[in-house]
Amino acid sequence: MSSDEFVVTPWNVEGDIDYDKLTKQFGTQKISPEILSKIKKITGEDHFMLRRGIFFSHRDLNVILDNFEKGKKFFLYTGRGPSGNTHIGHLVPWVFAKWLQEKFDVNIYFQLTDDEKFYTKSDLTLEDTSKFALENALDFIALGFNPEKTKIIINTRNIRRLYPIAAQVAKKINFSNTKAVFGFTNDTNVGMIFYTSLQSAPCFIEDLPVLIPLGVDQDPHFRITRDVAPKINKPKPALIHNIMIPALTGPGGKMSASDEKSTIYTTDSPQVVKKKINKYGFSGGQVDIEKHRELGGNPDIDVSFQYLRIFFEQDDDKLKKIYEDYKSGKMLTGELKAILIEKINSFLKIHQQKREEAKKNLSKFLLSDE
Ligand code: TRP
Repeated sequence: MSSDEFVVTPWNVEGDIDYDKLTKQFGTQKISPEILSKIKKITGEDHFMLRRGIFFSHRDLNVILDNFEKGKKFFLYTGRGPSGNTHIGHLVPWVFAKWLQEKFDVNIYFQLTDDEKFYTKSDLTLEDTSKFALENALDFIALGFNPEKTKIIINTRNIRRLYPIAAQVAKKINFSNTKAVFGFTNDTNVGMIFYTSLQSAPCFIEDLPVLIPLGVDQDPHFRITRDVAPKINKPKPALIHNIMIPALTGPGGKMSASDEKSTIYTTDSPQVVKKKINKYGFSGGQVDIEKHRELGGNPDIDVSFQYLRIFFEQDDDKLKKIYEDYKSGKMLTGELKAILIEKINSFLKIHQQKREEAKKNLSKFLLSDE
C-alpha cells in the first residue's frame, strides 16, 4: 500500500486516513458549523470532541436535532466487539455517548457482540468473547451512564430479544449486498454474512428514531441498515462518526486491542502506563535534544499529543500551549509524555474505582430477555 492509500472497514483499518476523502468515499456529511451551533443551543455546552473534530461526520444528525427541537425524542445506541480487555481508545465514543445521554435525557443501548468476535477472530472461543463482554461492560458502566435509562445487550444472551428484529432485517439483505459492502468471498463463514442483521437489530428495539455514536469503521454495517429501514417501515438510523484512535506505537491503523504493547488497558497500573508510554509512545520529536531544541517536534504525528487532544486534556488553552511549546522545541518528548502519563493515571485512578463498583450493579444494566 502506498503512503497516500488507506483502508477503513469494520474488520480492517490500515494506512494514513484522509478523513475528507473518507467522508466522500462513504458518502457521509461533515459536521457543519450549523450543526455544532444547534447542539450548543440545545445542550448549552460545546463538547471538546465536537469542537476538535474528534466526531467529524454524520448521517441525518440534523434530522434528529430538528425533530428534537420540535419535541420528538430519540434513543442512543452504540456497541463494542469484545475481542479483548477495554483500552483507553474505546472509551472515546462511550464518553461522548454518556454526555449525549445526559444532555438529551434519553435511553441508550450498548451492544456487546460476543458472537461477532467469535466469528471474526480465529484464536478466540465463544467463552473468551463472552468473558470479555462482561469485562467491557464494567468499563462502560463505570463511565456513569444512568441506570434507569441504560441497557447492555450481550448478543448470545439476548438473542431471544434480538432475533425477531434481526430476522426482519436479514430478509431484506441479500448475499450480493453484503458481498459488495464487505468484500466477502466463498470462504467467509456464514456467521459473518448474517452478522450485520444482528448489529442492526438494536436500531429498531424502540419505536423511536435512533442516533448512533460510533467509530467511522462501523459505518458500512449501518449503510446496509439504512437501506433496509424503509423496507421494514422503520426510520433510518442516524449516525455520528468519530475518527480512529491511533495506536500507541504510531499513526496508521487504529489502536488494536489484540496487540498487547500498543495498548493501554483501563486496568493498567500507574507503573505500567508510565512504562508503556515511555517505551512505545510514538514520538514526533527529533533524534536528540540538540536537534529537538533547534527544529522542534511535530505534535500532529506525536501520539502523546494526540491522546491529549482526543481525550485527556480538555482545556483548550492548556492544549494550545503544549502544542506550541512542543512545536518550538521548548518542550521535550519526555516532558510531553510525562504530562500524558499524569493525565491518564489520574483518570484511571477514578475509573478503576468506579469499575469495581460497577461489578455490584452489573445485573441492573443487563437487558432482560422478557
Ligand atoms: N462491530 C462493533 C465492533 O467490532 C461492535 C458494535 C455493535 C457496534 N453494535 C455497534 C459499534 C453499534 C458501534 C455502534 O466494535
